[in-house]
Formats: sequence, structure tokens, C-alpha cells
Amino acid sequence: MTVAISPGKIILLGEHGVVYGKPALAMAISLKVAADIEISSSYTVNSRPLDEKKHIYIKKAIEKLWDGEPLSITTFSQIPSASGLGSSAAITTAIVAALFAMKNGFSKEKVAKYSFEIEYDVQGMASPIDTSTCSYGNAIMVWKKEKEGYIWKISKNGSTWYIYPFEMPEINIVIGVSNIKSKTPSIVKKVSKFVEHSSFAKDLLNEMELLVMEGVKALRQKDIVKFGEIMNQNHKILYNIGASSREIEKLVATARKAGAYGAKITGAGGGGSIIAIGDDCERIMEALKEKCKDAYIVTPDKEGVKVWK
Ligand code: PMV
Repeated sequence: MTVAISPGKIILLGEHGVVYGKPALAMAISLKVAADIEISSSYTVNSRPLDEKKHIYIKKAIEKLWDGEPLSITTFSQIPSASGLGSSAAITTAIVAALFAMKNGFSKEKVAKYSFEIEYDVQGMASPIDTSTCSYGNAIMVWKKEKEGYIWKISKNGSTWYIYPFEMPEINIVIGVSNIKSKTPSIVKKVSKFVEHSSFAKDLLNEMELLVMEGVKALRQKDIVKFGEIMNQNHKILYNIGASSREIEKLVATARKAGAYGAKITGAGGGGSIIAIGDDCERIMEALKEKCKDAYIVTPDKEGVKVWK
């Protein structure tokens, strides 16, 4: 029996821009997935035959990494699916880590790189932010700029992203999960058309880059009020590049009305989730619960992907 646990993730600042090499900040969260893998007589997931469509990330991980006997895989998840909270990245990193561990051991870097390849295969355009965050834990900044101190770099189709560790202060973040499923590939494609054809979109991404740098500084200084303002400005840019929706706007407004210093889309947008920060997280969560599918208060996960044999 091999068990792997991986955290989900939220993007604090800079989603979409990161696809084009702009900086983004992401944090691993206290909601997690677990995968238990055992040698078996046929491939199954949660006692059903492995389904190429339903279990596409698991199928691709097996194709890339496993040539042994069939496997019986059982998964448990605290992360709502298609919610922009990294459920696919977390399941992928957990399975990849477990398969490496069953062969000859794993490193977080190897897990991040293979998991990104799988995510890229399935989604088309993607940055390595989700899989690197789930693998590393705590928080990371992803950027095309090479500076000292990166933990690993990942290249694909002529783009290279450098992954920098970021020490998160102790912080509670409220998540509101909308009733609309996040459709990352289609929103990423829609934004890419806008970026390709409009200098306005490029200006917005440049503005977002400055906000991410300011946000990093505010977090280092533990200035949550300032960080909240920056989240609000980042949300406005995401709205302007077409990543929001009526549902998301409603949730962002609800969080702000309940006292959030800042609220924004997290992840690709359209549907999915929002994040909010403020002094009274319970109040923000309760207000969101009345309007959305579910709401949580999360803290940073410190460990990233882990395996037991
Ligand atoms: O998978 P999501 O919804 O958390 O979105 C990931 C963030 C994007 O920047 C929109 C895409 C990417 O791969 O970086």
C-alpha cells in the first residue's frame, strides 16, 4: 500500500498573466486530497474500472510512469472539483508522487515537472503554477525572470518559468465556491485571444505584474489591509480581461460587504471560486455561504506532497 497526500491551492495574485511569463503568487491550502495505490489484478479507481475520460489525469500519470502490474487506486478529496482550487493538480501530484515512490523514490521537483506535463497534455495552454504549488506546499512565486533563489525551473514550448519559494505569514483566507464549474481551458483560450489581438490587454497584464510585486511586499510586511487593496485591484484587471462573470461579481461584492479588505477571483475564473481576506473571516464565510455553493476558511499548508509506504 502506498498513500500520497497533496494540498490544493489558491492563486493569491497574478493568474492568467503567469501563462505569459508574468509573476504570480500561489499558496497551498489546508484542503487536501489523498490517493491510496495497491497492486491489483485490474486497473480500478474507487472500485470502478479506470475510465479514460473521467480519470484522465490518473490515466496519463500511469501511462507516463508505470509499467508494472495493474493498480487499484482509491482517492479521497476535501477539495471541491472544477472549483479553481487545484483538485486536478492535487490528484495528479499525489498519484505521480506515489508512483515515483513505488518505483525508486521521489523529489518534489520531479513530481512538479511530470505533473505539469500531464496537466499541459490535458488542458493545452497552462503554466506550471498549480502543480508546482501542490507539490512544494507553503507558497511560491512563479515568474519568467531568472533571479537567485529559485527552487526549480520548468520549460515548455519556448517558455521557461522559475519557481521561487515564498514564506507565507500565518493567515486565514476565506474561499467562496460558486455554483458555476470552472472551465480553465476555455477561459485561458478566451483570454489568450484578447492578449494576442489587443495592446490594451498587454497593458493590463503589465499593470498586474506591478501589482504582484507590490502584493509580495505587502505580505512580507504582514500588511493585510494593503494586500486586500491589491487583491481588489487585481480583481478589476481580471474582470477587464474577461475572466469574471455575474456569479463571481456577486460573491466578490458579498465578501466586501461583509468586511473583507480584499476579494478576487482565484484561478481561471468564469465560475470556480473567489478568495477574500479580512479581520472577521467567520463573518465573511457566513455571508458567502448564503450566496454560494460552499465556503471555507483555509490556512497555508506547510508540507506539500507527502508519501507513506
Ligand atoms: O486551474 P485554475 O483555474 O486554478 O487556473 C490556473 C491559473 C491560470 O493562470 C488561469 C492558468 C495557468 O495554467 O496558469
